[in-house]
Amino acid sequence: MLKNDQLDAWDRENFFHPSTHLAQHARGEAPSRIVTGGDGVFIEDRDGTRLLDAFAGLYCVNVGYGRTEIAEAIAAQAKELAYYHAYVGHGTEASITLAKMVLDRAPSHMSKVYFGLGGSDANETNIKLVWYYNNILGRPEKKKIISRWRGYHGSGLMTGSLTGLELFHKKFDLPLDTVLHTVAPDYFRRQDLSMSEADFVAHCVSELEAMIEREGADTIAAFIGEPALGTGGIVPPPAGYWEAIQQVLTKHDILLIADEVVSGFGRLGSMFGSDHYQIKPDFITIAKGLTSAYAPLSGSIISDRVWKVLEDGTDENGPIGHGWTYSAHPIGAAAGVANLNLIDKLGLVENSKDAGAYFKSAMNDALADHMHVGDIRGEGLLCAIEFVEDKDSRVFFDPARKVGPQVATALMKQGVIGRAMPQGDILGFAPPLCITKSEIDKVVSATREAVSSVF
Ligand SMILES: Cc1ncc(COP(=O)(O)O)c(C=O)c1O
Repeated sequence: MLKNDQLDAWDRENFFHPSTHLAQHARGEAPSRIVTGGDGVFIEDRDGTRLLDAFAGLYCVNVGYGRTEIAEAIAAQAKELAYYHAYVGHGTEASITLAKMVLDRAPSHMSKVYFGLGGSDANETNIKLVWYYNNILGRPEKKKIISRWRGYHGSGLMTGSLTGLELFHKKFDLPLDTVLHTVAPDYFRRQDLSMSEADFVAHCVSELEAMIEREGADTIAAFIGEPALGTGGIVPPPAGYWEAIQQVLTKHDILLIADEVVSGFGRLGSMFGSDHYQIKPDFITIAKGLTSAYAPLSGSIISDRVWKVLEDGTDENGPIGHGWTYSAHPIGAAAGVANLNLIDKLGLVENSKDAGAYFKSAMNDALADHMHVGDIRGEGLLCAIEFVEDKDSRVFFDPARKVGPQVATALMKQGVIGRAMPQGDILGFAPPLCITKSEIDKVVSATREAVSSVF
């Protein structure tokens, strides 16, 4: 029970919620919830309602709620030293230890990690470093960044531009014109239904080649992508996609940023999505799973070849003019160390693979034959169901009908949280990596009920 019975009024009067229909919230019409606790895969609200959170917050509470090991590490760090900065060579035991732990887990060609606070600022760092890199190499024209439609990379000015979802551009004067968007690697949504998966990969490659040709390779600095699309619809890439895309990037000397804010630290059933799909990036963005969201922390992991140029750049130009007050914050770093130890101790990367396979097959058994279920897909503990009006001709529902949000609301009534993804009628799941088979059974049967109640 909460002490304050004015919270609803205070909320409406004072609190600007992200990604919220502001007017509906102000009128008290939008769904809202005051969350008071959590343990394992469950959260609890102030009315005592217990919900199975099959989206791990915003796919971030990977070790599950209520882990005292992490809470205690945070408390110990706060007591010993709540803050010191990381500028001009300063560090703390926690930040230096975490940097080593991250590099020990990252692909072997990665060299250093810069710590920020969230996924958006880490991608902002990456883009600045890409520009710095090309300036140091004497290529001041090579600055444009290619992203994909349906990619999600944050909601700042640059990162919101990289994001390829309409909602994040509309009325914000985005995307900025240094950002270009190419085809989403979403086979289910291919325009030409007669295409095989291999044809579709060839189509993605030829669209990318045409864009590079049109713009000039000497103007294009980097390509950014999530190993598997997340917020854009939870879509694993078609077979052979990354191999083919990387060949094009290498040919044109275009850097690759793997945005692993969702996939990093086990979500796909491998430590990194880059290992999972044999991607060899120049930058890896990490956040969410780095601390399982027990404290805000993100990182930009930088490859050997980029690092060498950055180092040389500071010999020429002086200290790098980039940093946040809270870069490598000791409390975040202490949370990160405890979290990565816990992931190892509990074998959560393995569980993501095993439980993920069970999740997808149970969802398929329950719903693949449903007349409005067009696609069930996933990798590790990421899974999505895409609803369609007509299955054979793959006709989508009119977005105004809000079929995806309706199913998510019906699911909540069954005691389970899934996420209506923002573009398309897609119900997403990304539970904590500690989820058990019996908890998965509960998610699947609640989803079956929810789907039949909506249709
Ligand atoms: C792939 C990816 N990149 C970047 C971000 C942005 O991270 P943040 O919300 O911490 O700024 C997100 C957030 O969901 C994400 O999914």
